Amino acid sequence: MRKLLAANWKMHLYPSQVAPLVQAILARWSRAPHARGVIFPPMLYLREVADMLQNTPLAAGAQNGYPGEFGAYTGEVSMAQIAAVGAQWVLVGHSERRQYFGESAPFLRDKITDAQNRGLQVMYCIGETLTQRQAGETFSVLRQQLTETLPETINWSRFAIAYEPVWAIGTGINATPDQAQEAHAFIRSVLVEMGAPAQEIPILYGGSLKPDNAKALFAQPDVDGGLVGGASLQAESFLSIAAQLWEGF
Ligand code: PGA
Repeated sequence: MRKLLAANWKMHLYPSQVAPLVQAILARWSRAPHARGVIFPPMLYLREVADMLQNTPLAAGAQNGYPGEFGAYTGEVSMAQIAAVGAQWVLVGHSERRQYFGESAPFLRDKITDAQNRGLQVMYCIGETLTQRQAGETFSVLRQQLTETLPETINWSRFAIAYEPVWAIGTGINATPDQAQEAHAFIRSVLVEMGAPAQEIPILYGGSLKPDNAKALFAQPDVDGGLVGGASLQAESFLSIAAQLWEGF
């Protein structure tokens, strides 16, 4: 059951666009009960999306969350609040949060621990920049992003990884299937070293994943699905990617 497909809507969509997009996705997805999916809408729409996805093969998730229940943290939304509106997932460590909001390993570790304690599943994003890849540092960066951040108490059954090379996000330049497979196999080997049941953990690819490159990426043995940004904003392209992950979708 490693296959999983997720939509990261980022900071997109007006309120009036949310229900029609979810309905269009559900119109087809509800006929595929075996297909496990997650939608990560902007926080403002999380409750609405979670309500719409109840009793469907899809779950709702938050793009971010603050560790804890309540507190004087103006502008933040806690992991407890996220879980309480019916969301089942939270994204942690997306490169945009690392890059623009300065989120680093100790904070990410706290988020993962607290999210899981609140009953949420964590999708942890890792990936190298272009400079790091060109310097031959891809593997050491990925290893560090795993070993420095993942808490010793992690619950591996509530955990997935998204490998998202930073140079591929929103650029239209996806990792080649070989590059993705090499990184995913490496990530799985580090998970083994860390004592994880690595064969059961979904490792998704993200970064300019589109209908025309999904099939070749999903054909790789260690690519278990995708985290889709731009192409998840239209039902047609998101569903087309899903149809390439699951036969008979
Ligand atoms: P993209 O974004 O598909 O638009 O490249 C993926 C992501 O950042 O999750």
